[in-house]
Amino acid sequence: MDEVVRLAEAEQVPPCSIVIFGASGDLAMRKLIPALYSLDCCGERLLAEETMIVGCARRQMTIEEFRRHARDGIERFSNAPLREACWERFAARLDYLSGIESPESFHHLKARLEQIEAAGALPPNRIFYLALPPEAILEWVKRIHDAGLIWPPQGRGFSRVVVEKPIGVDLASAMAINQGLHQYLDESQIFRIDHYLGKETVRNLLVLRFGNSIFEQIWNAHHIDHVQITVSELEGVGTRAGYYDHAGALRDMVQNHMFQLLTLIAMEPPVSLGAEDIRGAKLNVLRAIKPLTPEEVHGQVVRAQYTAGHVDGRVLPDYLKEQGVAPDSATETFVALKLFVNNWRWSGVPFYLRTGKALARRASSVAIHFKPLPAILFAERHSLPANVLNLRIQPDEGFSLSVIAKQPGLDLSIRPVQMNLQYEREFQARLPEAYEMLLYEVMTGDQTLFVDSEMVERSWRFVQSILDVWRREGRNGMATYPAGTWGPEEAEEKLMPNQCAWIEP
Ligand code: BG6
Repeated sequence: MDEVVRLAEAEQVPPCSIVIFGASGDLAMRKLIPALYSLDCCGERLLAEETMIVGCARRQMTIEEFRRHARDGIERFSNAPLREACWERFAARLDYLSGIESPESFHHLKARLEQIEAAGALPPNRIFYLALPPEAILEWVKRIHDAGLIWPPQGRGFSRVVVEKPIGVDLASAMAINQGLHQYLDESQIFRIDHYLGKETVRNLLVLRFGNSIFEQIWNAHHIDHVQITVSELEGVGTRAGYYDHAGALRDMVQNHMFQLLTLIAMEPPVSLGAEDIRGAKLNVLRAIKPLTPEEVHGQVVRAQYTAGHVDGRVLPDYLKEQGVAPDSATETFVALKLFVNNWRWSGVPFYLRTGKALARRASSVAIHFKPLPAILFAERHSLPANVLNLRIQPDEGFSLSVIAKQPGLDLSIRPVQMNLQYEREFQARLPEAYEMLLYEVMTGDQTLFVDSEMVERSWRFVQSILDVWRREGRNGMATYPAGTWGPEEAEEKLMPNQCAWIEP
């Protein structure tokens, strides 16, 4: 069948005011503004006519300056070209207020929003995007609340708050943030962003698993030997040492993005495609992952820092010599670990996760390794590689299935070949950026692609069991790897049983 089955039309989103706190910062300029521009100007023009975007930041800027800044952001970072007619329309939506900081100043914001709503005869639909450092989140939510800018979900219009990761730096702080948010907001008003959930290929995981009859039958411990999830990055710590040296790979990538990928791979079929059912099924995966004991941390987790090396033609220094990194830092730039999802479906199947900075290539993938063949017929004398379904999240989005095939000829020679789907070639369409999808869903009020409070806490619970051991041990047990390689040898030697190895994503 070549016909496209449209399960849901992209709907026109309700008109609203989108307030971005931290509007002159990196996230706003690289991701949020370009994403809103694409929603407004590409394809289906999804922003409602009356929707306004109010940038708020400390920096003094006129509206015209803010617009110039936004235009620059779109030209540099959008994957859609800037077209003048679209830009004119989009620019007219942009407003800017500087100095919204003190509790009193939030009343100016309130007045501006009421003015916008009155001018467009709009319902008071408001979205507050906190593109702010994590320590500011609770204070800002309180100020928004105290100024009367948000109200309970059943009130007139809607008021929603979007928060970025990281939610906390450990389990206790994550619980405190969730508790603080719940003081002012109902869970249905909180949109916790994990931008991996907006990636086209991540969203496709559900379709691949539950839109095809062949996979679900074999998606379990009877047929799957192990699963490898890799998120490898080329860049070193760059200019982000101030944040990264207090975070590290486990907090920065595993607690959120990688655990979200894991839940999509391991979840049971949800009862429906509704947000509650999908999030419930994902949550059950996290509930089935037990925190590690200190002995398990020693046997199942490898951490490392990069040393000097060549990355993409450039020389990177030792992590410990990067600007802003403490010379005796115990922060890992690489982590690999093995965990189990202790439920009926996955009993005994190891999930291997690895992520790091300054690795050989930028690549995120999930590789499902099926069980090897029995040693009869073709595998009688030579072991044959097992089938692997490799889901490429980025770049070169798509997936491949390795199968054994006969090489043409009169003799009997066999070898693995790849059945490969490349998104770009198959669909020949621009892949929307993750933030486009996520902002669109905030406006329509669908929480499927967002992380709820229990998910955050469950994944922290696991991560905390590792952090506790590392805190006690300082730098003891920290491995190293030259920048530009696939990480330390320990990641394979220690974690992988015989005959199993990391595959290059
Ligand atoms: C962020 C991390 O959440 O994700 C960064 O803080 C990381 O350290 C980034 O580089 C990776 O995102 P992507 O979309 O480039 O894979």
